[in-house]
Amino acid sequence: MALVTRITIFSAFFSVLYAQSVLFPYGEEVGDDLMVEGDEATTSSIILSEDLIIFGDHVYTFHVNTNGVISVNNAFVTFYPKFIPFTISPDEPSFFIAPFYADIDTSGGRGNIYYRYVGRADENDYLFKRVQRMVDAAFFDIRFINKTFEGEFMLIVTWDSVSYFSEEDKANHTNTFQAVLISDGEVESYAIFNYENISWTTGVSPNSKANPDGTGGTPGAMAKVGFNYGDGVKGFMLNVSGTDDVINMDETSNIGIPGRWIFRLDQAEIEAPSETIRTRCLPGWTFLEIEYACYKFYNEHRNWWEADRKCKREGGQLATVTTPEKNDFIAGSITGGVKTWVGATRNPMNETLWEWITDEPWYFHKWRKREPNNWGDAEDCLNTNFVRPGLWNDHFCQNRKAFICEMIPIADESRGGEETS
Ligand SMILES: *[C@@H]1O[C@H](CO)[C@@H](O)[C@H](O)[C@H]1NC(C)=O
Ligand SMILES: *[C@@H]1O[C@H](CO)[C@@H](O)[C@H](O)[C@H]1NC(C)=O
Ligand SMILES: *[C@@H]1O[C@H](CO)[C@@H](O)[C@H](O)[C@H]1NC(C)=O
Ligand SMILES: *[C@@H]1O[C@H](CO)[C@@H](O)[C@H](O)[C@H]1NC(C)=O
Ligand SMILES: *[C@@H]1O[C@H](CO)[C@@H](O)[C@H](O)[C@H]1NC(C)=O
Repeated sequence: MALVTRITIFSAFFSVLYAQSVLFPYGEEVGDDLMVEGDEATTSSIILSEDLIIFGDHVYTFHVNTNGVISVNNAFVTFYPKFIPFTISPDEPSFFIAPFYADIDTSGGRGNIYYRYVGRADENDYLFKRVQRMVDAAFFDIRFINKTFEGEFMLIVTWDSVSYFSEEDKANHTNTFQAVLISDGEVESYAIFNYENISWTTGVSPNSKANPDGTGGTPGAMAKVGFNYGDGVKGFMLNVSGTDDVINMDETSNIGIPGRWIFRLDQAEIEAPSETIRTRCLPGWTFLEIEYACYKFYNEHRNWWEADRKCKREGGQLATVTTPEKNDFIAGSITGGVKTWVGATRNPMNETLWEWITDEPWYFHKWRKREPNNWGDAEDCLNTNFVRPGLWNDHFCQNRKAFICEMIPIADESRGGEETS
């Protein structure tokens, strides 16, 4: 009875936790730089050590600009009531990437704009894996199915609770969204736009004819989502741009996750995902959006090697627990706190080291106190939910336990158009 109560409380806790944000981690605590506030501000040049490839060009100099655009080569500060494509400079490529090109105004502390460069390292391997799984799922038909996209760096820009231009702050509507650019530095580059909360579309000025709450107005003055090359010819714009429907970016998707949009950048033209994407798990498996992966709990007792074989026969592998989110999910909602084998073993060459069966870096871990203790010099396999949900223990591999498998989404889903939610 006591146990049941504890598990119930635990699940309630996780249902709160999994009112998930569509945003990747951001803010000063993860090393973001904060942009100056203002109506039409820009950053100094952000010069990357590797290339992003966009419209077929290799580029490495960026500015983050208040009005919802990341510009290439030059700053781009002004909000023009124009539709993409429009001319910026006919002579020099000076283009922009716009998760939400609108008349944003952060002066007076009305929102923060954060940005950071993320190079690949053990501690953020999980973040690259999350993005790569999405890229592979969204563009699987133009890739070799057996080849995984490998990002080398990301540029992550977050407009957090930003407001719009107006003479006074008449309403308290704010938008929160994020652009993630990822590239392998040589061939492929992608943008992921994450919309957490969109509640206004238009800056308020006599010309925009917008409502005081930042909605409506002339189409030109409303927000645009897209990529403008700046020669007046090349560009890509979602067709909700300049309409009231652009307010629904946080509820719509082109990859099956409300608020998340993904685009391939490197070709001569920007590409949205194929008509069919891999976004769903096979029957009986549970989709964890934040990891973009599928999980199945087997409440049947097998030793670690049998469990590993069973997962492989199903097309996956024993789950790796490389992030706090995965650990919480596995402990709480899916295994219900039952002791469960997961996919790590002791390194046979060095008993103090542990390894994920996927070769992911060993970074996050959650041992129970005084574990791993390698009892009898023979505890070589990892199980979770030891004493308490989510705590880890080393145990005898021949011991029989429940287990959890993981695999990438392989079931196809037709998007049925651009704005499937
Ligand atoms: C990967 O897929 C390609 C194209 O389908 C195929 O030619 C190649 O042999 C595959 N490679 C491996 C290692 O399976
Ligand atoms: C808007 O926000 C300000 C401070 O953030 C607050 O003082 C004011 O009451 C709010 N106005 C409305 C209409 O909610
Ligand atoms: C979205 O923004 C509006 C207005 O700023 C706010 O009232 C609402 O709570 C926000 N919603 C979320 C999910 O953050
Ligand atoms: C095992 O790995 C630890 C941690 O990297 C290291 O300090 C230790 O020297 C290694 N032991 C052997 C025998 O290689
Ligand atoms: C937007 O584009 C999609 C596909 O690209 C199309 O199905 C849809 O009808 C368009 N919507 C409008 C309002 O034009």
